[in-house]
Amino acid sequence: MTEVPSAKCAVVIVAAGSGQRLGQGVPKARVLLGGEPMLVHTVRGVVRSGIASQICIAVPAEDAAMEQICTKLVGEFGSKTDLQWSIVAGGADRAESVRAALSVLASDITTVLIHDAARPLTPAGVFDRVSHALRDGAKAVIPALAVVDTIKTVVPAGLPGTGAGVEKVSGTPARSRLRAIQTPQGFDVDTLRRAHEHAQSLDAASAALITDDAMLVEALGEDVYVVQGSTHSLKVTTPTDLLLAEAMLAGPLRPRWIEG
Ligand code: CTP
Ligand code: MG
Repeated sequence: MTEVPSAKCAVVIVAAGSGQRLGQGVPKARVLLGGEPMLVHTVRGVVRSGIASQICIAVPAEDAAMEQICTKLVGEFGSKTDLQWSIVAGGADRAESVRAALSVLASDITTVLIHDAARPLTPAGVFDRVSHALRDGAKAVIPALAVVDTIKTVVPAGLPGTGAGVEKVSGTPARSRLRAIQTPQGFDVDTLRRAHEHAQSLDAASAALITDDAMLVEALGEDVYVVQGSTHSLKVTTPTDLLLAEAMLAGPLRPRWIEG
């Protein structure tokens, strides 16, 4: 890989989801964690990483409460004059929210990290590892953790004595080669734009299978590099995840959780 000398990095925070699985009746990024909206923690983590020259947040359209949170955040960090802020209305799915954000990036941006607002506790070390690999010439970089459970693939199946809902194992991939993928995912900005343009030609069924940006880059045949993620970078998806995030933030273990 060849070193990219003067990369200018934007971080996109996608916060336009509705948080159905968390079930609090408000967009997840507004749900309180340690007494503050989740988005506030996520943005602070991005600012603290020091890698961004632009931060773009995709929020639900016409959500006044979210706009207020963003205005407050920009006020909190507004004195950092080298940092440009953009707030955009997200789309119906995550990929659309990413595309909305890509469309407002400054013209001198060369690399972009796409980060879930739902990962409020991502440590600076993860941002560092991703942006370092981009500086070293990777066009796509994702943080990952080894999986601890055995993972199996299944197909629908039936037993003579049971109703619907039974499945049958169709395979067991070698666990040593499986990884659970997190964000921030980092890209050369032109490569990610190309990947999202390609995605727009997919039919609805294929588009529904897209769960991250790296998949789109893989579809272009580009190499996607993998760096170490972090257990702190959990995605708050269910009420159990929220409990865990609260414990991480407030619990006695906290100092031990601050890792590189
Ligand atoms: N996201 C987004 N725009 C969407 C859907 C999701 O910006 N239309 C963002 C979410 O805000 C979140 C991240 O993508 O930060 C990961 O998505 P997920 O965990 O699925 O969040 P939600 O879609 O909000 O949750 P759920 O699927 O349970 O409704
Ligand atoms: Mg979702």
